[in-house]
Amino acid sequence: MPVLPQGRRRFYGAGIRRPTGMKTQEGGNVQMRMYDIIMKKRNGGELSKEEIDFFVEGYTRGEIPDYQASALMMAIYFRKMTKKETLALTMAMAQSGDMLDLSGIRGIKVDKHSTGGVGDKTSLALAPMVAACGVTVAKMSGRGLGHTGGTIDKLESFPGFTTSLTAERFTENVNRIGMAIMGQTADLAPADKKLYALRDVTATVDNMSLIASSIMSKKLAAGADAIVLDVKTGSGAFMKEEKDARALAEEMVSIGNSAGRRTVAVISDMDQPLGRAVGNALEVREAIDTLRGKGPEDFTELCLTLGSRMLAAGGRAPGEEAARQMLAAAIEDGRALRKLAEFVEAQDGDAAAVYDPELLPKAKIIRPIAAPRDGYISRIICDQVGICSLILGGGRETKESGIDLSVGLVLCRKVGDYVRAGEPLAMLHANEESRAQEAGRRYLEACTIAVEPCACQPLIRGIVE
Ligand code: URA
Repeated sequence: MPVLPQGRRRFYGAGIRRPTGMKTQEGGNVQMRMYDIIMKKRNGGELSKEEIDFFVEGYTRGEIPDYQASALMMAIYFRKMTKKETLALTMAMAQSGDMLDLSGIRGIKVDKHSTGGVGDKTSLALAPMVAACGVTVAKMSGRGLGHTGGTIDKLESFPGFTTSLTAERFTENVNRIGMAIMGQTADLAPADKKLYALRDVTATVDNMSLIASSIMSKKLAAGADAIVLDVKTGSGAFMKEEKDARALAEEMVSIGNSAGRRTVAVISDMDQPLGRAVGNALEVREAIDTLRGKGPEDFTELCLTLGSRMLAAGGRAPGEEAARQMLAAAIEDGRALRKLAEFVEAQDGDAAAVYDPELLPKAKIIRPIAAPRDGYISRIICDQVGICSLILGGGRETKESGIDLSVGLVLCRKVGDYVRAGEPLAMLHANEESRAQEAGRRYLEACTIAVEPCACQPLIRGIVE
């Protein structure tokens, strides 16, 4: 059974009070109250490991209500956490459920995770590219969060596809085809699963410690030997400023390495959407195009950069250049696309859609958003584009809401491009007229058209090892 023994689960007794008898300095029993923990953080105090454990365990068990957890998240959002608190929160969430033991899988297991962005369909193309080159990809992915999309939602565009895998099936698939992507089960980092959904609807996502602990708790629980992180920066990222993205990258690399996992982070641009497609099935289509060698330049380049780090971590390539060539060859000779089809089939999806993307969900209304004037696109406020996709129904409004896989936008012009009045800035894919109108209006607000040509930001901003 590829999970660590129950002893790794660290739950304490029932009720809000901790019955295991933590001692005060005087040796008496401490009876913690969630109210005090919220107040301590609200007032800027540093929470102890015991207080963080108390919260994580109580919330996971359903003994601490959402309203108190929300209040603590908001207090953390404003008051921030120290490195010590962040590490304690990461470990408590990682150990809130099972820790996968992937020793039954041959070779070095590599996982990859993005901090989240708009049009970020990287895993859909990258995982098959890397697996086609012989590196074992054992990946755990999430759903959409805030204005950003999630790999699991996108993958569900393949009819029948499931990411609810047992640990046994995950292991078996990775051994058989070299890759598997699973969703976070109720048993893996359940504390993060609950908090992730709560943060999504309480405007408490974009805090460095909450992001670092959320990502790294899942990565540690999912058991891979090496982790490649894609830390986004810019208007579509949770970390808008490059210095904050670097700090987040450093924090996560340090957590990963101190937990004995080889961890590297690439800092990449998210000041405009990645590639051209934004929206679940539309992004799947673009990932397929990319595996056919016909993807957008920026997206292909990001896959090669991250992929070469994954091949290095998996011990498959002697250097970056060799790794890039291996990845490019896997696209060229069709192995990467075939790997995607194998993977979709292995997880109950209809692989026919890999070869015929017309089978993917399609919106009823497809129409252009016309440029109001001539000029150069100087800015596309990226989180606003993510919000356009949410307005169209491509993301969740509450924890319980469903999503429309077919809707979204496909950008016809990106930053630096010239457009004439009346030409399309983007194509809208919608199922409801009122949503299409609102998204079209917001998209125009998100775009700036300037008279003078302008340069776009470099795609890769740095590497933290
Ligand atoms: N991705 C995650 O898994 N968690 C976050 O908090 C943000 C992005």
